[in-house]
This record gives sequence, C-alpha cells and structure tokens, in this order.
Amino acid sequence: MSMRINFDDIFKRKKELSRFFTEGSYKFKLVEVVSRNFLENNTHSDWNSNNRNNILFWGDNFSVMAYLLNNGWAETIDLIYIDPPFFTGNVFRVKNKKGENTQLNLRGVDQLAYVDKWRGGLMTYLTYMYDRLFLMKELLAETGSLYIHVDWHISHYIKVLLDDIFGYDNFRREIIWNVGSVSGFKSKVEGWVRQHDVILYYTKSDEYTFNKQFLPYKEEYIKKMFRYVDENGRRYRKRRGGRQYLDESKGMPIGDVWNDIISFQTATQAHEYVNFETQKPEKLLARIVKASSNENDLVADFFLGSGTTIVVAEKLHRKWIGSDISKVAIYLTKKRLLRLNQQVEVKNERNKSYESYNPQPLLFNVFYGDFSINDYAKKGNEQWTKNLTLTFNIEIIQEHKTVTLTFSSISADFEKDGEHLSYATTCKPEIRQYLDYWAIDWNFNGNWFNNNWASFKIGKDKNITLDVQHQYEHSGKYTIKIEALDIFGNYGAREYQIVVKRD
Ligand SMILES: C[S@@+](CC[C@H](N)C(=O)[O-])C[C@H]1O[C@@H](n2cnc3c(N)ncnc32)[C@H](O)[C@@H]1O
Repeated sequence: MSMRINFDDIFKRKKELSRFFTEGSYKFKLVEVVSRNFLENNTHSDWNSNNRNNILFWGDNFSVMAYLLNNGWAETIDLIYIDPPFFTGNVFRVKNKKGENTQLNLRGVDQLAYVDKWRGGLMTYLTYMYDRLFLMKELLAETGSLYIHVDWHISHYIKVLLDDIFGYDNFRREIIWNVGSVSGFKSKVEGWVRQHDVILYYTKSDEYTFNKQFLPYKEEYIKKMFRYVDENGRRYRKRRGGRQYLDESKGMPIGDVWNDIISFQTATQAHEYVNFETQKPEKLLARIVKASSNENDLVADFFLGSGTTIVVAEKLHRKWIGSDISKVAIYLTKKRLLRLNQQVEVKNERNKSYESYNPQPLLFNVFYGDFSINDYAKKGNEQWTKNLTLTFNIEIIQEHKTVTLTFSSISADFEKDGEHLSYATTCKPEIRQYLDYWAIDWNFNGNWFNNNWASFKIGKDKNITLDVQHQYEHSGKYTIKIEALDIFGNYGAREYQIVVKRD
C-alpha cells in the first residue's frame, strides 16, 4: 500500500467545504418521536421547551452535519466524541450467536454493522475524515471540545489533520486507554502485545469547559500517605504546615493514561454489552462527558455505533445528537435508550438500584436521510437501504375504551449474504424467537410515528412480550400503527383503524 500522503491536497479542501454552511441541499425527514415520561406515565412533556429535542439521525454524517449547519446549529455543540472506523480493513457485525434457537441456519443471524474498507487506500480515508472533522469544528461552541477515539493505524495521521483544522495550540492531550489484559489469540502475537487505543483531545479555543476528574485513593496509598489520625478518628496528612484530611480530599486526579476501564474485548459478560463488536464502555464515555460538559449542555457523536455516547449523555442529563449510517446501529441505539427508560421503571417498582442514574423524561426525534443524494451510503451499506419486508398479523380485541393487541403471526422471505431464507409461523414461542422488536403508535397522525410503547430483545435479555393493552381516554376514530423488526433486520409496518365509542 502506498503511504505517500499529500497533505496539501487535503488541506486545500477548506474552501470547498465552507460552502456547505450555506447550501441547504441536505434533506432529512422526521420519521419518529419517542416520548416517555415514566414519572407521570403520560406521553407528553415540555422538558425541552426550546424545541431542540434530542435527535437521532440515520444517514451519512457529512449530510447530517451539513444539514445541522444549514439549520442554525453552528457553534452550538459543547462536546463531540467520535469513534470512527480506524482504517482496519475489517467488516464489523452485531453478533447474535446464542439464545436464538430458530429452525433457520443460524449463521444468517449475525447482522452486518459496518464496513471499514477503503478503495483508494489511506488518502481516501484521510480525505473522508478531514471533511467531517472540518464540519465538526464549525458545529462546536467556542468553549467546546472534541475527542476522537483511534488507534495505531491512523492516530498520527489524524493528529496532522486536526492540527490543521483546530490549530496545533488547541491540542490538549493524547489519552492512552489501556484496553485491559489481553488473552486468547491476541496474546499469541509475535512481539509486544497490542494493548491500547488512543484518544486525541482538542478544544476549539483556549477557553473551554473542563471539570477535573478524580479516582478514589487506593488502600495502600491511604495507609502510606494519610498516616495520622486526629482525636475524632479522622485520617489526615501533613501539608505545608497544615492538615489535609482524607474525607475532604477529592482523590487522585486522573492523568492521561487510563488503566481502570476494561474493554468489551475482555468483558463480554457485562450487562451493558449489546454484542456490537466495537462497542465502548459507558464508564469511558462517562469520564469524558463529565469532564468536558455540564448538565444541559449539548453532546454529539456522529459515529454512534451502538449509541454509548448518547446513552451516557442521557444518563448524565445532557442533551444530545447522534448519527450513524448503519440502520442496525440506529435500531440498537434506540433500543438502548428505551431500555434505559424501562430499567428506571424496574428500579421504581422493585427499588432496585440502577447505578446512580437520576432519571429524566426520555424525549427524542428520529430523522432519516434522503439516500438518493447519498452515494457513500449506497455503496457501503446497500444491505440497509434495501427494503426487506416483514409480514405480520395483529389480533385486536376491543372492549369499550380498552384495546388488547396480540402479535399473532410473522413471516419473511428474503436474501441474506447471498442465501435465500424464509420462515412463517403462528406459534407463539416461535414468533418470540423471530421477532426482535415491535412498537405501537396508538394514534397515528399519518405522518411520523409516535413511539408510545415498545417491546424488544437486547443483549442477553431475550424477553419479548406479545400482548399489550391500552386504554383510550376519549371516544373517536383512531389509526393504530405498528412497526416490527425480525432478528435478521427485516422491517414491516401495519395500520389498523378502530372506533372508540362513548360509554
Ligand atoms: C467504531 S463504531 C462506533 C462504536 C461506538 N463508539 C460504540 O460504543 O458502540 C463506528 C460507527 O461509525 C459508523 N459510520 C461509519 N461511517 C459513517 C458515516 N459516514 N456516517 C455516519 N456513521 C458512520 C459505522 O456504521 C459504525 O457504527
């Protein structure tokens, strides 16, 4: 592979890129509104009264960012974290090996997440990254920060791009994330075992948000350093003629080498793991989000993957924007956000503690891109722009204002990885095996889908409900819309009309 990179050719693109701030040719359509206020169990909330709801975009992030810049979002984002493809030459999947005991060939159950292969080599990749990093800088607030997660393949090249865009002086730190002890085939390589990722951290200017983060002192450190105990039993150390008490100390300031966060390469059993091959731990993102943003700030990730950044932003009460070009990634992210809401319900019901998450109403809009103008998406992710159809039936029983829905049959006939597959069943346990997700809008407005209720499988949790009941408050004619996905990624939707009479 030729490694001669002509950076001047890349840097020249600035002029051409500037026109994207004004050209309004990028279109996105609102397809779904997710609104959950579990506290009062209603479907509306004016929590984001400035009308800037959280947004999940399906589309090429270049179009997403150009669209945002054209629609008044320039200089509004406080923190951007991205974990783009690393130029690895690999294909990444959502693994779905166990627990899916269908009669079909199980090899077909893994879903393609994204492809990290670049025709034209490194120059193509770097040009692609430069364009996107350039738009990110325009979206960042004056006090904003950018973290980019990379590894040995390209970290040094990306640094050169960022020095050009952000300025050498705005490079703050190179963070080394030790991904944890390596075992299995990875430990058998010749030479040093590869064990870290790199996170490059830039700010837009020299005035930026930063909240120092600390780790608790280790037991040995406390014993060695806080050797004295006062008359009230409080431990302290002597400092510049005075006393520094342990219970008043914040802990050890965190440096730029992070050894305490284990990656999913070694911890696939974690509850948060949703089988997305390049998924990053919430703890890693929480550290970055807490350090470089405050509550109600706007956090964005344009290479979402399984959605870790925005799940963490939601938990930490930040507003967020996320995008991905892979539809699987969008579905997974949506499920993780919805699960967050359900876990809160579980916590409330059984008083189970779910970390220290202090819940807020979940509210976000989902926008889909116009893929006819999106060449990259067409080439790279053809599978997800095809319409793979799922057929299903719902049994509806209505008694006055109460409606009961039962998912009663499912079938699909499709091609996957060049193989022809089909199934059809009315048997409940089998429906549960094929069905991955279904959601209901109880009062469809003919335009976007209001996600009022959803049941789905995620990670190790394979429980999916087939029955649901709803109580209408007012009489009238309603359209119930149902969306469903099977475990192969096939999508289907149906509408049913009902009339609710006065009692
Ligand atoms: C390494 S993964 C991100 C993993 C993520 N940090 C997580 O915790 O799950 C990179 C993601 O970038 C997405 N991607 C690649 N090119 C893109 C583009 N042009 N626009 C939007 N998303 C893109 C891929 O589909 C993939 O989901």
